[in-house]
Amino acid sequence: MTTAVTDSKPDDPRADRRTTPAAEPAPSLLRAWAAPQGLRATLRVPGDKSISHRAVMLGAIARGTTEVSGFLEGADALSTMHAFRALGVSIEGPNQGHLRIAGVGLHGLQAACAPLDCGNAGTAMRLMMGLLAGQRFSSTLVGDASLSRRPMRRVAEPLGRMGAQVETDDGRPPIRISPGPGLHGIDFALPVASAQVKSAVLLAGLYAQGTTRVTEPAPTRDHTERMLGGFGVKVLVEGASRALSGGQSLEACPIEVPGDISSAAFFLVAASIVPGSDLTLEHVGINPTRTGVIAILRRMGANIELLDPREAGGEPVADLRVRAAPLRGIEVPEELVALAIDEFPVLFVAAACAQGRTVVRGAEELRVKESDRIAAMEAGLLACGASVKATRDGMIIEGNPGQRFAGVHIDSRGDHRIAMAFAVAAQRATAPIEILDTANVVTSFPNFVTLAQGCGMRVVARHD
Ligand code: S3P
Repeated sequence: MTTAVTDSKPDDPRADRRTTPAAEPAPSLLRAWAAPQGLRATLRVPGDKSISHRAVMLGAIARGTTEVSGFLEGADALSTMHAFRALGVSIEGPNQGHLRIAGVGLHGLQAACAPLDCGNAGTAMRLMMGLLAGQRFSSTLVGDASLSRRPMRRVAEPLGRMGAQVETDDGRPPIRISPGPGLHGIDFALPVASAQVKSAVLLAGLYAQGTTRVTEPAPTRDHTERMLGGFGVKVLVEGASRALSGGQSLEACPIEVPGDISSAAFFLVAASIVPGSDLTLEHVGINPTRTGVIAILRRMGANIELLDPREAGGEPVADLRVRAAPLRGIEVPEELVALAIDEFPVLFVAAACAQGRTVVRGAEELRVKESDRIAAMEAGLLACGASVKATRDGMIIEGNPGQRFAGVHIDSRGDHRIAMAFAVAAQRATAPIEILDTANVVTSFPNFVTLAQGCGMRVVARHD
């Protein structure tokens, strides 16, 4: 991979950072230790994973050519790209974050000749379930060991109500989808606050007769609705409900993927807890359905500024400046949980370095992510000497502003966000922390080690 760019003007002083740095090979182990001084840099995290998946999916079923920039060249989004190639869509790239998708139109996908491999990506599998439920051919979706344990009935069930033929293995992958007599719209109240389920039902709704309406119990990320709007689909927003009528065609449009706030979160916490730090994270997506991490950290006393807020490709973005600050424990408001759902592993690290107690409730979804993140973080933080207690739906953390974590081995359980959270914790450790089973860091953050080293974090990768 090279580092040239096409979307910045040659005289743009930030041009050299508007790049997709070379991906690193998947690390089998990360070794991380205390940063000797403050973290200081201006850096750009890779493209948003949620938006990258959706760009491929909607570009594929649009009419015309969709040009994507800032695409996340991480394993998860690449699984989606490969799946759509297998469904007969011609996709050029990725080339420094650029993709050119030759859309085949709403009814132009073709049967794949083998099962579609979603790898580690729950978003790929759940959203594709919705999209493939409306096709006139059969599909099989498979995933890796982690994805094969994750709950899929939450999607299969509403799709079944729409008339889809979706089989699971007792609620888990593999998923078999067969063509049925056709889909019809439903009015569906989501039992869990899940953007993946909401998106799957809306995507199936494109192929359904009549109107499909989903109502969420709490706001979740709205990238699907926004992007559908960009492709010309009318999505009706009424309070907590989103509705669309079937049969609307999508017209290709350019998509600019902003930096992923979920990846930026590791640096927001690292800079907050390493004294003397001052980091600027450029061009990060600040969609209000994703900024729970900033709201929570600010309540804890973090010093985070949003610089130059602007709009890019239908999504709000800003540069985030974060400086070290003393943190205090808080009761995390439950309404912020879904808006920060992927950031809790590293937020627990922040809480362990804060003055006083932090309580997280209403976050039971963490138990069914790439790992049981409540159990994985409790085990890891306890091993490091922190005072934490897992609850059914969250965590209670007795913080210590003078926190020095012990140098231990941590099992990341193959979960990218657990691995990176402990690389951040290690910046406040008394001895190196070795994090095992870290290959999946490349699912969401293929250049994590390079960027972390570039800002002064002490972390190295082993590959074997
Ligand atoms: C995602 C939604 C979230 C999140 C996941 C990505 C998406 O899952 O955890 O990493 O892109 O829609 P749920 O919506 O199931 O909570």
